[in-house]
Amino acid sequence: MSDKALLTIDGNSYELPIITGTEQEKAIDISKLRDQSGYVTLDTGFKNTGATKSAITFLDGENGILHYRGYPIEQLAKNSTFLEVAYLLIYGELPKEQTLLDFRHLISRHTLIHEDMKKFFDGFPSKSHPMGQLSALVGALSAFYPESLNPNATEEEENLTIVKLLAKMPTIVSWIYKKSLGHPVIYPRNNMNYVHNFLQMTFGQITEEIELDPVIVRAMHILLILHADHEQNCSTSTVRIVGSSNANLYASISAGISALWGPLHGGANQAVIEMLESIKNDGGDSAKWLAKAKDKNDPFRLMGFGHRVYKNFDPRAKIIKKACDDVLEKLGINDPVLDIAKQLEEAALNDPYFVERKLYPNVDFYSGIIYRALGFPTDMFTVLFALGRLPGWIAQWKEMRINKEPIGRPRQIYVGSTPRDYVDIEKR
Ligand code: ACO
Repeated sequence: MSDKALLTIDGNSYELPIITGTEQEKAIDISKLRDQSGYVTLDTGFKNTGATKSAITFLDGENGILHYRGYPIEQLAKNSTFLEVAYLLIYGELPKEQTLLDFRHLISRHTLIHEDMKKFFDGFPSKSHPMGQLSALVGALSAFYPESLNPNATEEEENLTIVKLLAKMPTIVSWIYKKSLGHPVIYPRNNMNYVHNFLQMTFGQITEEIELDPVIVRAMHILLILHADHEQNCSTSTVRIVGSSNANLYASISAGISALWGPLHGGANQAVIEMLESIKNDGGDSAKWLAKAKDKNDPFRLMGFGHRVYKNFDPRAKIIKKACDDVLEKLGINDPVLDIAKQLEEAALNDPYFVERKLYPNVDFYSGIIYRALGFPTDMFTVLFALGRLPGWIAQWKEMRINKEPIGRPRQIYVGSTPRDYVDIEKR
Protein backbone atom coordinates (compact mmCIF):
# COMPACT_ATOMS: atom_id res chain seq x y z
CA MET A 1 0.00 0.00 0.00
CA SER A 2 1.45 3.36 -1.04
CA ASP A 3 2.28 5.91 1.64
CA LYS A 4 2.32 8.78 -0.87
CA ALA A 5 -0.32 10.34 -3.10
CA LEU A 6 0.71 11.96 -6.35
CA LEU A 7 -1.01 15.17 -7.38
CA THR A 8 -0.36 16.56 -10.85
CA ILE A 9 -1.20 20.17 -11.68
CA ASP A 10 -0.22 21.70 -15.02
CA GLY A 11 2.34 18.97 -15.61
CA ASN A 12 4.00 19.40 -12.21
CA SER A 13 3.74 16.49 -9.77
CA TYR A 14 3.62 16.79 -6.01
CA GLU A 15 4.06 13.93 -3.56
CA LEU A 16 1.71 14.14 -0.60
CA PRO A 17 2.09 11.88 2.46
CA ILE A 18 -0.73 9.45 3.22
CA ILE A 19 -1.67 9.15 6.89
CA THR A 20 -3.40 6.00 8.17
CA GLY A 21 -5.32 5.95 11.43
CA THR A 22 -5.56 3.00 13.84
CA GLU A 23 -8.94 2.06 12.34
CA GLN A 24 -7.38 2.21 8.84
CA GLU A 25 -8.92 5.56 7.94
CA LYS A 26 -6.81 7.20 5.26
CA ALA A 27 -5.99 10.85 4.73
CA ILE A 28 -3.82 12.83 2.37
CA ASP A 29 -1.66 15.32 4.25
CA ILE A 30 -1.91 18.58 2.31
CA SER A 31 -0.32 20.80 4.98
CA LYS A 32 2.73 21.55 2.76
CA LEU A 33 0.83 21.71 -0.54
CA ARG A 34 0.60 25.50 -0.69
CA ASP A 35 4.33 25.89 -0.07
CA GLN A 36 5.05 23.33 -2.77
CA SER A 37 2.53 24.37 -5.41
CA GLY A 38 0.77 27.61 -4.45
CA TYR A 39 -2.54 25.74 -4.22
CA VAL A 40 -4.84 25.48 -1.21
CA THR A 41 -7.69 22.98 -0.95
CA LEU A 42 -11.32 24.10 -0.75
CA ASP A 43 -13.89 22.24 1.35
CA THR A 44 -16.74 24.43 2.55
CA GLY A 45 -18.27 23.05 5.72
CA PHE A 46 -15.21 20.78 6.17
CA LYS A 47 -17.15 17.89 4.66
CA ASN A 48 -13.97 16.00 3.77
CA THR A 49 -11.28 17.63 5.85
CA GLY A 50 -9.56 16.12 8.87
CA ALA A 51 -8.77 18.99 11.23
CA THR A 52 -6.67 16.97 13.66
CA LYS A 53 -5.35 13.54 14.65
CA SER A 54 -7.36 12.49 17.69
CA ALA A 55 -7.26 9.47 20.00
CA ILE A 56 -10.58 10.18 21.73
CA THR A 57 -13.54 9.06 19.63
CA PHE A 58 -13.83 6.80 16.59
CA LEU A 59 -16.85 7.15 14.40
CA ASP A 60 -17.68 5.18 11.25
CA GLY A 61 -20.73 6.85 9.75
CA GLU A 62 -21.21 4.29 6.98
CA ASN A 63 -21.44 1.39 9.43
CA GLY A 64 -23.02 3.20 12.39
CA ILE A 65 -20.03 2.66 14.73
CA LEU A 66 -19.16 4.92 17.66
CA HIS A 67 -16.33 4.20 20.14
CA TYR A 68 -15.01 6.31 23.01
CA ARG A 69 -11.30 5.55 23.55
CA GLY A 70 -11.91 2.21 21.78
CA TYR A 71 -14.95 1.17 23.84
CA PRO A 72 -18.19 0.64 21.86
CA ILE A 73 -20.92 3.10 22.80
CA GLU A 74 -23.38 0.20 23.27
CA GLN A 75 -21.20 -1.30 26.05
CA LEU A 76 -20.65 2.03 27.77
CA ALA A 77 -24.37 2.91 27.65
CA LYS A 78 -25.22 -0.48 29.13
CA ASN A 79 -22.59 -0.82 31.85
CA SER A 80 -21.04 2.52 32.68
CA THR A 81 -21.94 5.69 34.54
CA PHE A 82 -21.63 9.20 33.19
CA LEU A 83 -18.79 10.18 35.48
CA GLU A 84 -16.83 7.04 34.60
CA VAL A 85 -17.25 7.87 30.90
CA ALA A 86 -16.20 11.46 31.61
CA TYR A 87 -13.02 10.13 33.23
CA LEU A 88 -12.41 7.79 30.30
CA LEU A 89 -12.76 10.58 27.74
CA ILE A 90 -10.64 13.11 29.61
CA TYR A 91 -7.87 10.88 30.95
CA GLY A 92 -7.86 8.15 28.29
CA GLU A 93 -8.50 4.99 30.36
CA LEU A 94 -11.35 3.49 32.36
CA PRO A 95 -10.58 4.31 36.01
CA LYS A 96 -9.78 1.66 38.62
CA GLU A 97 -12.32 1.51 41.45
CA GLN A 98 -10.34 3.70 43.86
CA THR A 99 -9.46 6.19 41.12
CA LEU A 100 -13.13 6.62 40.30
CA LEU A 101 -13.99 7.07 43.98
CA ASP A 102 -11.28 9.72 44.29
CA PHE A 103 -12.51 11.43 41.13
CA ARG A 104 -16.10 11.47 42.44
CA HIS A 105 -14.89 12.85 45.74
CA LEU A 106 -12.85 15.59 44.08
CA ILE A 107 -15.80 16.60 41.89
CA SER A 108 -18.12 16.69 44.90
CA ARG A 109 -15.75 19.18 46.61
CA HIS A 110 -16.20 21.74 43.81
CA THR A 111 -19.92 21.70 43.08
CA LEU A 112 -20.69 25.04 44.72
CA ILE A 113 -20.55 28.16 42.62
CA HIS A 114 -19.36 31.50 43.95
CA GLU A 115 -22.19 33.28 45.76
CA ASP A 116 -21.56 36.42 43.68
CA MET A 117 -22.47 34.43 40.57
CA LYS A 118 -26.06 34.27 41.84
CA LYS A 119 -26.39 37.92 40.83
CA PHE A 120 -26.00 36.85 37.18
CA PHE A 121 -28.97 34.49 37.51
CA ASP A 122 -31.04 37.30 39.03
CA GLY A 123 -30.04 39.64 36.19
CA PHE A 124 -31.33 37.51 33.32
CA PRO A 125 -34.91 38.18 32.19
CA SER A 126 -37.08 35.22 33.27
CA LYS A 127 -37.82 34.23 29.66
CA SER A 128 -34.21 34.35 28.41
CA HIS A 129 -33.14 31.16 26.66
CA PRO A 130 -31.19 28.78 28.94
CA MET A 131 -28.48 28.28 26.31
CA GLY A 132 -27.67 31.99 26.22
CA GLN A 133 -27.49 31.96 30.01
CA LEU A 134 -25.35 28.83 30.07
CA SER A 135 -22.84 30.22 27.59
CA ALA A 136 -22.59 33.49 29.56
CA LEU A 137 -22.29 31.76 32.95
CA VAL A 138 -19.63 29.28 31.84
CA GLY A 139 -17.63 32.12 30.27
CA ALA A 140 -18.05 34.09 33.51
CA LEU A 141 -16.37 31.31 35.51
CA SER A 142 -13.07 32.61 34.11
CA ALA A 143 -13.66 35.82 36.10
CA PHE A 144 -14.01 33.87 39.34
CA TYR A 145 -11.10 31.54 38.66
CA PRO A 146 -8.50 33.80 36.97
CA GLU A 147 -5.79 31.15 37.40
CA SER A 148 -7.53 29.39 34.47
CA LEU A 149 -6.28 32.19 32.19
CA ASN A 150 -2.68 31.01 32.33
CA PRO A 151 -1.91 29.09 29.13
CA ASN A 152 1.26 27.77 30.78
CA ALA A 153 -0.52 26.29 33.79
CA THR A 154 0.93 23.09 35.20
CA GLU A 155 -0.90 19.84 34.59
CA GLU A 156 -2.16 19.93 38.18
CA GLU A 157 -3.49 23.48 37.85
CA GLU A 158 -5.13 22.68 34.53
CA ASN A 159 -6.70 19.60 36.03
CA LEU A 160 -8.25 21.66 38.81
CA THR A 161 -9.82 23.98 36.23
CA ILE A 162 -11.24 20.91 34.47
CA VAL A 163 -12.62 19.44 37.70
CA LYS A 164 -14.18 22.76 38.70
CA LEU A 165 -16.00 23.04 35.40
CA LEU A 166 -17.27 19.46 35.50
CA ALA A 167 -18.39 19.94 39.10
CA LYS A 168 -20.11 23.31 38.64
CA MET A 169 -21.91 22.62 35.37
CA PRO A 170 -24.83 20.62 36.92
CA THR A 171 -25.27 23.35 39.55
CA ILE A 172 -25.38 26.06 36.86
CA VAL A 173 -27.83 24.06 34.70
CA SER A 174 -30.15 23.31 37.63
CA TRP A 175 -30.10 26.88 38.84
CA ILE A 176 -30.98 28.19 35.37
CA TYR A 177 -34.02 25.91 35.50
CA LYS A 178 -35.03 26.84 39.05
CA LYS A 179 -34.70 30.56 38.26
CA SER A 180 -36.87 30.15 35.14
CA LEU A 181 -39.62 28.88 37.47
CA GLY A 182 -39.02 31.65 40.00
CA HIS A 183 -38.14 28.98 42.57
CA PRO A 184 -35.33 29.11 45.10
CA VAL A 185 -32.16 27.39 43.97
CA ILE A 186 -31.12 24.15 45.64
CA TYR A 187 -27.57 23.78 46.80
CA PRO A 188 -25.55 20.71 45.76
CA ARG A 189 -25.38 17.70 48.05
CA ASN A 190 -21.90 16.26 48.27
CA ASN A 191 -23.14 12.85 49.42
CA MET A 192 -25.04 12.28 46.17
CA ASN A 193 -23.51 11.08 42.94
CA TYR A 194 -23.25 13.37 39.93
CA VAL A 195 -26.53 12.49 38.21
CA HIS A 196 -28.53 12.08 41.41
CA ASN A 197 -27.29 15.42 42.71
CA PHE A 198 -28.20 17.07 39.39
CA LEU A 199 -31.75 15.67 39.51
CA GLN A 200 -32.07 16.67 43.17
CA MET A 201 -31.03 20.26 42.43
CA THR A 202 -33.36 20.35 39.41
CA PHE A 203 -36.50 18.64 40.63
CA GLY A 204 -36.01 18.45 44.41
CA GLN A 205 -37.16 20.94 47.01
CA ILE A 206 -35.01 22.61 49.66
CA THR A 207 -36.58 20.57 52.42
CA GLU A 208 -37.21 17.31 50.59
CA GLU A 209 -34.89 14.78 49.11
CA ILE A 210 -36.08 13.59 45.74
CA GLU A 211 -37.14 9.97 45.34
CA LEU A 212 -35.78 8.61 42.11
CA ASP A 213 -36.77 5.52 40.22
CA PRO A 214 -33.69 3.56 39.01
CA VAL A 215 -35.14 3.48 35.47
CA ILE A 216 -35.14 7.29 35.39
CA VAL A 217 -31.63 7.57 36.82
CA ARG A 218 -30.33 5.01 34.32
CA ALA A 219 -32.04 6.82 31.43
CA MET A 220 -30.35 10.04 32.51
CA HIS A 221 -26.94 8.33 32.62
CA ILE A 222 -27.56 6.85 29.16
CA LEU A 223 -28.59 10.21 27.70
CA LEU A 224 -25.50 11.92 29.09
CA ILE A 225 -23.18 9.08 28.02
CA LEU A 226 -24.57 9.06 24.46
CA HIS A 227 -23.96 12.78 24.15
CA ALA A 228 -20.53 12.78 25.83
CA ASP A 229 -18.41 13.05 22.67
CA HIS A 230 -18.80 12.92 18.93
CA GLU A 231 -15.36 13.74 17.51
CA GLN A 232 -14.95 16.85 15.37
CA ASN A 233 -18.54 18.11 15.15
CA CYS A 234 -19.49 21.81 14.93
CA SER A 235 -19.32 22.62 18.67
CA THR A 236 -16.24 20.47 19.36
CA SER A 237 -14.37 22.01 16.44
CA THR A 238 -15.37 25.39 17.87
CA VAL A 239 -13.95 24.46 21.29
CA ARG A 240 -10.68 23.32 19.71
CA ILE A 241 -10.33 26.32 17.43
CA VAL A 242 -11.06 28.81 20.23
CA GLY A 243 -8.70 26.92 22.54
CA SER A 244 -6.01 26.91 19.85
CA SER A 245 -5.55 30.66 20.43
CA ASN A 246 -4.65 29.74 24.06
CA ALA A 247 -8.07 30.99 25.22
CA ASN A 248 -8.89 29.53 28.63
CA LEU A 249 -11.04 26.43 29.12
CA TYR A 250 -14.13 28.34 30.29
CA ALA A 251 -14.04 30.70 27.28
CA SER A 252 -13.50 27.78 24.89
CA ILE A 253 -16.40 25.76 26.31
CA SER A 254 -18.63 28.83 26.37
CA ALA A 255 -18.00 29.18 22.62
CA GLY A 256 -18.80 25.49 22.16
CA ILE A 257 -22.11 25.98 23.98
CA SER A 258 -23.00 28.78 21.56
CA ALA A 259 -22.14 26.57 18.58
CA LEU A 260 -24.27 23.76 20.00
CA TRP A 261 -27.28 26.04 20.36
CA GLY A 262 -28.15 26.16 16.64
CA PRO A 263 -31.08 24.00 15.46
CA LEU A 264 -28.89 22.26 12.88
CA HIS A 265 -26.74 20.95 15.75
CA GLY A 266 -27.70 20.48 19.43
CA GLY A 267 -30.68 22.79 19.14
CA ALA A 268 -32.32 20.06 17.05
CA ASN A 269 -33.66 18.31 20.17
CA GLN A 270 -35.77 21.36 21.00
CA ALA A 271 -36.70 21.79 17.33
CA VAL A 272 -37.87 18.15 17.10
CA ILE A 273 -40.42 18.52 19.88
CA GLU A 274 -41.59 21.88 18.54
CA MET A 275 -42.00 20.27 15.11
CA LEU A 276 -43.91 17.27 16.52
CA GLU A 277 -46.20 19.59 18.47
CA SER A 278 -46.86 21.71 15.36
CA ILE A 279 -47.78 18.54 13.47
CA LYS A 280 -50.08 17.45 16.30
CA ASN A 281 -51.75 20.87 16.49
CA ASP A 282 -52.15 20.84 12.71
CA GLY A 283 -54.22 17.65 12.88
CA GLY A 284 -51.43 15.05 13.02
CA ASP A 285 -51.12 14.48 9.25
CA SER A 286 -47.49 13.30 9.05
CA ALA A 287 -47.73 12.68 5.28
CA LYS A 288 -48.37 16.40 4.73
CA TRP A 289 -45.26 17.35 6.73
CA LEU A 290 -43.16 14.72 5.04
CA ALA A 291 -44.15 16.27 1.70
CA LYS A 292 -43.15 19.72 3.02
CA ALA A 293 -39.73 18.34 4.05
CA LYS A 294 -39.18 17.02 0.51
CA ASP A 295 -40.31 20.23 -1.21
CA LYS A 296 -37.20 22.20 -2.19
CA ASN A 297 -39.24 25.43 -2.26
CA ASP A 298 -40.20 24.93 1.37
CA PRO A 299 -37.53 25.68 4.01
CA PHE A 300 -39.04 23.06 6.36
CA ARG A 301 -36.74 20.13 7.20
CA LEU A 302 -37.60 17.06 9.18
CA MET A 303 -35.82 17.91 12.40
CA GLY A 304 -34.00 15.00 14.04
CA PHE A 305 -33.42 13.42 10.63
CA GLY A 306 -30.14 13.31 8.75
CA HIS A 307 -26.60 13.61 9.95
CA ARG A 308 -23.39 14.92 8.47
CA VAL A 309 -21.52 11.68 9.09
CA TYR A 310 -24.05 8.90 9.82
CA LYS A 311 -25.27 7.67 6.47
CA ASN A 312 -26.73 4.34 7.57
CA PHE A 313 -28.00 4.72 11.11
CA ASP A 314 -27.07 6.66 14.22
CA PRO A 315 -26.09 4.03 16.84
CA ARG A 316 -27.07 6.45 19.59
CA ALA A 317 -30.62 6.70 18.21
CA LYS A 318 -31.04 2.92 18.54
CA ILE A 319 -30.01 2.97 22.21
CA ILE A 320 -32.04 6.03 23.03
CA LYS A 321 -35.20 4.67 21.45
CA LYS A 322 -35.10 1.74 23.88
CA ALA A 323 -34.42 4.06 26.86
CA CYS A 324 -37.33 6.20 25.69
CA ASP A 325 -39.71 3.21 25.71
CA ASP A 326 -38.49 2.20 29.20
CA VAL A 327 -39.02 5.70 30.64
CA LEU A 328 -42.46 6.15 29.11
CA GLU A 329 -43.57 2.74 30.33
CA LYS A 330 -42.19 3.34 33.83
CA LEU A 331 -43.87 6.72 34.11
CA GLY A 332 -47.06 5.42 32.48
CA ILE A 333 -46.94 8.22 29.93
CA ASN A 334 -48.91 7.98 26.73
CA ASP A 335 -47.52 10.88 24.76
CA PRO A 336 -49.38 11.66 21.50
CA VAL A 337 -46.22 13.36 20.28
CA LEU A 338 -44.47 9.98 20.48
CA ASP A 339 -47.11 8.44 18.23
CA ILE A 340 -46.48 11.17 15.67
CA ALA A 341 -42.72 10.60 15.98
CA LYS A 342 -43.21 6.88 15.30
CA GLN A 343 -45.48 7.55 12.30
CA LEU A 344 -43.03 10.06 10.86
CA GLU A 345 -40.07 7.75 11.37
CA GLU A 346 -41.80 4.84 9.66
CA ALA A 347 -43.02 6.97 6.76
CA ALA A 348 -39.61 8.59 6.22
CA LEU A 349 -37.71 5.30 6.41
CA ASN A 350 -39.89 3.97 3.58
CA ASP A 351 -39.81 7.11 1.46
CA PRO A 352 -37.41 7.14 -1.54
CA TYR A 353 -36.42 10.79 -0.84
CA PHE A 354 -35.06 9.89 2.60
CA VAL A 355 -33.75 6.46 1.57
CA GLU A 356 -31.79 7.86 -1.42
CA ARG A 357 -30.25 10.62 0.68
CA LYS A 358 -29.49 8.20 3.53
CA LEU A 359 -31.47 10.27 6.02
CA TYR A 360 -32.17 8.41 9.27
CA PRO A 361 -33.34 9.52 12.72
CA ASN A 362 -30.45 10.97 14.71
CA VAL A 363 -29.92 11.00 18.48
CA ASP A 364 -32.09 14.07 18.87
CA PHE A 365 -35.17 12.50 17.35
CA TYR A 366 -35.92 10.63 20.59
CA SER A 367 -33.93 12.45 23.29
CA GLY A 368 -36.49 15.27 23.50
CA ILE A 369 -39.29 12.81 24.17
CA ILE A 370 -37.42 11.42 27.19
CA TYR A 371 -36.50 14.87 28.50
CA ARG A 372 -40.13 15.89 28.19
CA ALA A 373 -41.30 12.77 30.03
CA LEU A 374 -38.84 13.53 32.83
CA GLY A 375 -40.39 16.97 33.19
CA PHE A 376 -37.84 19.25 31.50
CA PRO A 377 -39.28 22.18 29.54
CA THR A 378 -38.41 22.22 25.83
CA ASP A 379 -35.96 25.09 25.99
CA MET A 380 -33.84 23.15 28.53
CA PHE A 381 -33.18 20.25 26.12
CA THR A 382 -30.10 21.68 24.47
CA VAL A 383 -28.68 22.61 27.87
CA LEU A 384 -28.94 18.93 28.82
CA PHE A 385 -27.08 18.07 25.63
CA ALA A 386 -24.35 20.53 26.71
CA LEU A 387 -24.17 18.89 30.15
CA GLY A 388 -23.57 15.55 28.45
CA ARG A 389 -21.10 16.91 25.88
CA LEU A 390 -18.98 18.69 28.49
CA PRO A 391 -16.45 15.85 29.10
CA GLY A 392 -15.96 15.43 25.35
CA TRP A 393 -15.30 19.13 24.86
CA ILE A 394 -12.87 19.10 27.77
CA ALA A 395 -11.07 16.01 26.46
CA GLN A 396 -10.73 17.57 23.01
CA TRP A 397 -9.49 20.89 24.42
CA LYS A 398 -6.96 19.03 26.56
CA GLU A 399 -5.77 16.87 23.67
CA MET A 400 -5.34 19.94 21.47
CA ARG A 401 -3.11 21.49 24.14
CA ILE A 402 -1.10 18.32 24.84
CA ASN A 403 -0.46 17.95 21.10
CA LYS A 404 0.60 21.63 20.98
CA GLU A 405 -1.59 22.16 17.93
CA PRO A 406 -1.07 25.42 16.04
CA ILE A 407 -3.68 28.15 16.08
CA GLY A 408 -6.64 27.21 13.86
CA ARG A 409 -6.71 29.46 10.86
CA PRO A 410 -8.30 28.22 7.61
CA ARG A 411 -7.55 29.73 4.22
CA GLN A 412 -10.15 30.94 1.72
CA ILE A 413 -10.61 31.53 -1.96
CA TYR A 414 -11.34 35.19 -2.40
CA VAL A 415 -14.18 35.82 -4.88
CA GLY A 416 -14.82 39.53 -4.21
CA SER A 417 -14.00 42.58 -6.26
CA THR A 418 -10.51 43.03 -7.68
CA PRO A 419 -8.73 46.28 -6.62
CA ARG A 420 -10.62 49.47 -7.44
CA ASP A 421 -10.25 53.13 -6.50
CA TYR A 422 -12.23 54.82 -3.78
CA VAL A 423 -15.07 56.96 -5.15
CA ASP A 424 -16.19 60.13 -3.35
CA ILE A 425 -19.65 59.78 -1.82
CA GLU A 426 -21.32 62.35 -4.08
CA LYS A 427 -20.03 60.57 -7.20
CA ARG A 428 -21.32 57.05 -6.37
N1 ACO B 1 -35.21 16.91 6.03
C1 ACO B 1 -35.32 16.98 4.69
N2 ACO B 1 -34.28 16.93 3.83
C2 ACO B 1 -33.06 16.82 4.35
C3 ACO B 1 -32.85 16.73 5.75
C4 ACO B 1 -33.97 16.78 6.59
N3 ACO B 1 -33.84 16.71 7.91
N4 ACO B 1 -31.52 16.62 6.00
C5 ACO B 1 -30.90 16.63 4.81
N5 ACO B 1 -31.83 16.73 3.81
C6 ACO B 1 -31.56 16.71 2.36
C7 ACO B 1 -30.97 18.02 1.89
O1 ACO B 1 -31.99 18.92 1.47
C8 ACO B 1 -30.11 17.55 0.75
O2 ACO B 1 -30.94 17.28 -0.35
P1 ACO B 1 -30.41 17.52 -1.87
O3 ACO B 1 -29.24 16.62 -2.03
O4 ACO B 1 -31.58 17.19 -2.72
O5 ACO B 1 -30.04 18.99 -1.92
C9 ACO B 1 -29.55 16.21 1.24
O6 ACO B 1 -30.56 15.72 2.15
C10 ACO B 1 -28.22 16.30 1.96
O7 ACO B 1 -28.34 17.21 3.05
P2 ACO B 1 -27.24 18.26 3.48
O8 ACO B 1 -27.90 19.42 4.11
O9 ACO B 1 -26.31 18.53 2.33
O10 ACO B 1 -26.44 17.42 4.55
P3 ACO B 1 -25.49 18.01 5.64
O11 ACO B 1 -24.57 16.92 5.98
O12 ACO B 1 -24.92 19.32 5.21
O13 ACO B 1 -26.48 18.32 6.86
C11 ACO B 1 -27.77 18.08 8.83
C12 ACO B 1 -26.66 17.48 7.95
C13 ACO B 1 -27.47 19.57 9.14
C14 ACO B 1 -27.81 17.31 10.15
C15 ACO B 1 -29.11 17.95 8.09
O14 ACO B 1 -29.40 16.60 7.84
C16 ACO B 1 -30.27 18.61 8.85
O15 ACO B 1 -30.49 19.81 8.70
N6 ACO B 1 -31.02 17.81 9.68
C17 ACO B 1 -32.08 18.37 10.51
C18 ACO B 1 -31.48 19.03 11.73
C19 ACO B 1 -30.98 18.02 12.74
O16 ACO B 1 -31.65 17.06 13.10
N7 ACO B 1 -29.77 18.30 13.26
C20 ACO B 1 -29.17 17.46 14.32
C21 ACO B 1 -27.98 16.75 13.80
S1 ACO B 1 -27.37 15.67 15.04
C22 ACO B 1 -26.53 16.68 16.08
O17 ACO B 1 -25.95 17.66 15.74
C23 ACO B 1 -26.59 16.31 17.41
